[in-house]
Amino acid sequence: MTTHRAFRWPSLLTESGRGIAFGGDYNPDQWPEETLDEDIRLMGEAGVNVVSLAIFSWDKIEPVEGAFTFEWLDHVIDRLGRAGIAVDLASATAAAPLWLYESHPEVLPVDRYGHTVNAGSRQSWQPTSPVFKEYALRLCRKLAEHYKDNPYVTAWHMGNEYGWNNRYDYSDNALAAFRTWCEAKYGTIDALNEAWGTAFWSQHVNSFDEVLLPRHMGGDAMVNPSQQLDYERFGNDMLLDFYKAERDAIEQICPDKPFTTNFMVSTDQCVMNYAKWADEVDFVSNDHYFHEGESHLDELACSDALMDSLALGKPWYVMEHSTSAVQWKPLNTRKRAGELMRDSLAHVAMGADAICFFQWRQSKSGAEAFHSAMLPHAGADSKVFRGVCELGKALKTLSDAGLQGTELERAGTAILFSAESEWATRSETLPSMKLNHWHDVRDWYRAFLDAGTRADIMPLKYDWSDYKTVVLPTVLMLSAVDTRRLADFAAAGGRVVVGYATGLIDENFHTWLGGYPGAGNGLLRDMLGIRGEEFNILGSGVEGEPEAIRLGAGGEVALEDAAALNGATTRLWQNDVTVTGDRTQVLAMYAGEEADEWELDGMAAVTRNPYGAGEAYFVGCDLDVADLTKLIRTYLAAPAQSQQSQANTDVLHTVRKSADAAFDFYLPRGKKEVELQGVEGEPVVLFQTERGEENGSYTVRRNGVLVVRR
Ligand code: GAL
Repeated sequence: MTTHRAFRWPSLLTESGRGIAFGGDYNPDQWPEETLDEDIRLMGEAGVNVVSLAIFSWDKIEPVEGAFTFEWLDHVIDRLGRAGIAVDLASATAAAPLWLYESHPEVLPVDRYGHTVNAGSRQSWQPTSPVFKEYALRLCRKLAEHYKDNPYVTAWHMGNEYGWNNRYDYSDNALAAFRTWCEAKYGTIDALNEAWGTAFWSQHVNSFDEVLLPRHMGGDAMVNPSQQLDYERFGNDMLLDFYKAERDAIEQICPDKPFTTNFMVSTDQCVMNYAKWADEVDFVSNDHYFHEGESHLDELACSDALMDSLALGKPWYVMEHSTSAVQWKPLNTRKRAGELMRDSLAHVAMGADAICFFQWRQSKSGAEAFHSAMLPHAGADSKVFRGVCELGKALKTLSDAGLQGTELERAGTAILFSAESEWATRSETLPSMKLNHWHDVRDWYRAFLDAGTRADIMPLKYDWSDYKTVVLPTVLMLSAVDTRRLADFAAAGGRVVVGYATGLIDENFHTWLGGYPGAGNGLLRDMLGIRGEEFNILGSGVEGEPEAIRLGAGGEVALEDAAALNGATTRLWQNDVTVTGDRTQVLAMYAGEEADEWELDGMAAVTRNPYGAGEAYFVGCDLDVADLTKLIRTYLAAPAQSQQSQANTDVLHTVRKSADAAFDFYLPRGKKEVELQGVEGEPVVLFQTERGEENGSYTVRRNGVLVVRR
């Protein structure tokens, strides 16, 4: 189901070329020449072995049109390389020089209101501009020619976070490209009319020349959701095409070095459909910025679980994270003592073989001066820099112990993620605008941890048929093909757990008919043995309306194990369902005054239906993490895996394995220190961790990490 390019991992400049990569974005062009000496000396002290270079340096490489100056970059690369620091060289196209905008203002993106975006920041270019592409590809070719044989350049860092500022472009170039994209996708205009459901508000399209972008249509005019969804896909594809054009331009000249581009996977955004992007890189890399508060570590692990699947279980790269605070939020909290190390090792625990930061030296001026870095404003005599050095040592220790190349052990459950469903849930045409697929994935992920087991996160389009259980939280959109895959999986003995807003629409954003969730022309309904007619939407805050509805025993339907979810609370969405299957068991139902107020009292809330050799659960309402945890504990908890026998809900426990070794990582999830007993293996890293008197016992303090090798 996936057609990844072959996995290629960049070498280091060590004798064997191996080692865990450690470093960050390096912007020496922000500093005078003398700083380079100090940088290289301190990088050596910290154990830095790779930097990403020239990401925003186009103006320095081509200061005026057509005049390329590589001397400064040659010098920096040479100095770094001689000091044993490999270079992940950028295509340098993420921010274009001002001269380009002066001579070609037509490359600037246009917003949905028709305003041209101004130059002066970054990624201010239309992904579909042929003029911009010509300049960018010329730069790529020049860089490739110049650095193709440079032994210190060991990877290509294409662009930077493609789509961060130019994801949505409504220019005329975009319009022309969208028409071509639609024609390629649909072939005939009838097929497009059918897919977009244009027999509505006079939206019939006579030819591809009449296809429109979803530009602002005045007042609170609503966009056709099918058209909007295609526009999302189109934007993703245009940026991916741009990336591929840049990559191919370099690869033609310099085929030997691996390519990557830094993704933006974290659970509060879904800029791109990375299940498609991962096919096109040689190794996947990610930028991840921490969430403050109690979900800090869980959120990191959840994002990383998706990264590890995108990497097909191979090691992947943390291209950016932060040593401490960022500067782009309204309030920017710093990291607490130990979190620098803990977050880094948590990424390693989740499968990363490269730990890099934005950025090496904290800027003195510009928009990011107050963003933390490896070498902070305070200089080397600082907690952060000491933490960085300590991290460098820990990574070296793990490297020497043979961690590199081991793979994260898979869980028994996969939570399925779909970027397209995430985009679809943002439509303002749905019963509730509070739907959020990613957040529901995250809640389920955390609930599995709270239940003492770990889940993986797999893109829906990948192959998840080897798992025992798959969970679909708010996978709003399910095609007939994907529904069939789920049915086959259950028929063969798998367990499918369907969330409250899953399988309502098809890939064209058409509602599946005949009762909810109707995916696959009713196949999903049949699997579940239930049929929904309406949605009960709460959360309006309207006086006199219930804010929440409780679950419990009641009504006349046969109950099994009702106690498990007694008192569970739903606050957003309930499905008004009838049980249709002969063997469907009702595991929980709505109960109490509030349920009665909405005529749900006694109605099935959570059900289980046997299907073939497997079974299908329906979780017909939103539940919080605590209630999901109860549900998982009672019905879904995966059979205990041996290495997780010590599983303790207070720690994140992962295993990275190869044929020769297994490494166990233990990281406390909360503020409390954690006592571990019976841990097998030799300790490799004991960070904020004490060994107990008894063999295999440890106390891991807040933000501590224990790594043992078996
Ligand atoms: C990333 C970006 C970096 C830097 C960083 C700050 O999104 O790729 O260049 O701006 O954020 O957190």
